[in-house]
Amino acid sequence: MRHMIDPLDFSTEEISALLDVADDIQRRPDCYAHLCAGKKLATLFYEPSTRTRLSFEAAMLNLGGSVLGFSSADSSSAAKGESIADTIRVISCYADICAIRHPKEGAPLVASQFSAIPVINAGDGGHQHPTQTLTDLLTIRSLKGSLGGLTIGLCGDLKFGRTVHSLIKSLARYPDMHFVLISPSELRTPDYIVREVLQANGIDYLEAERLEDVIAKLDILYMTRVQRERFFNEEDYVRLKDSYILDEAKLRLAKEDMAVLHPLPRVNEIAVEVDKDPRAAYFKQVQYGVYVRMALILNLLGLEAQAC
Ligand code: CP
Repeated sequence: MRHMIDPLDFSTEEISALLDVADDIQRRPDCYAHLCAGKKLATLFYEPSTRTRLSFEAAMLNLGGSVLGFSSADSSSAAKGESIADTIRVISCYADICAIRHPKEGAPLVASQFSAIPVINAGDGGHQHPTQTLTDLLTIRSLKGSLGGLTIGLCGDLKFGRTVHSLIKSLARYPDMHFVLISPSELRTPDYIVREVLQANGIDYLEAERLEDVIAKLDILYMTRVQRERFFNEEDYVRLKDSYILDEAKLRLAKEDMAVLHPLPRVNEIAVEVDKDPRAAYFKQVQYGVYVRMALILNLLGLEAQAC
């Protein structure tokens, strides 16, 4: 039995195969419509979510399966003090696979150690968000034709943004990648990512504070929101929350084919006027998230598309 806890749990070859299945799902959805008939997905969300929970649910429904779960810690027995280890033992009796979002780093990993069913990390604190990364990889490969040989700018809250941490770890495995890390000094990429992922592998990277200074060199701009829920005090959040606002004026400095990605939700960091720019790819990215989660569910359940 396999789990998806860390973005590196799958090799680049396995990721490539997963993205191929996601592409095929997009082309031939009917061939996948009943593959999970009789199977159940549990979504255990101890933190708010719109995209991740609902795209997992949509993915399982698209595959002909069923869903059950909870969308806040308050509405589960976690509110009475139940441990994640006990909860997953119970859920293993109800479902065939589960996706867990939790505010504590490492909670999905702990769950996987007590689980009788595959566990998917749907975001753990400020740590990792591997299925957002699968979504991002599918989006990048679809828009740019391949993974590798790209300059990607990651902009905003690089300290607490778990999507950024997972994406850097994953993209660092592809050849000739260049990273531009754009953040205020208080929200820089954690040292362990810079040291253990970028420096240890000799990967080209640059840290910058002004988006305008570096936007012209980017093939992809990955915007992120400042993660209010991870701040210790509101004053710091208010001071930093509007550090970056991508608008039409800044986009004029960028390449004609630069893609703008964002894991969403957006707060102020991308002006609404940017939505109509052909380079804005963040709503397309949401759709890719359903295809790739369908592919992941099939993989972890050991199911393959039949000839169709
Ligand atoms: N991208 C993402 O994780 O969105 P949600 O918090 O809405 O799930």
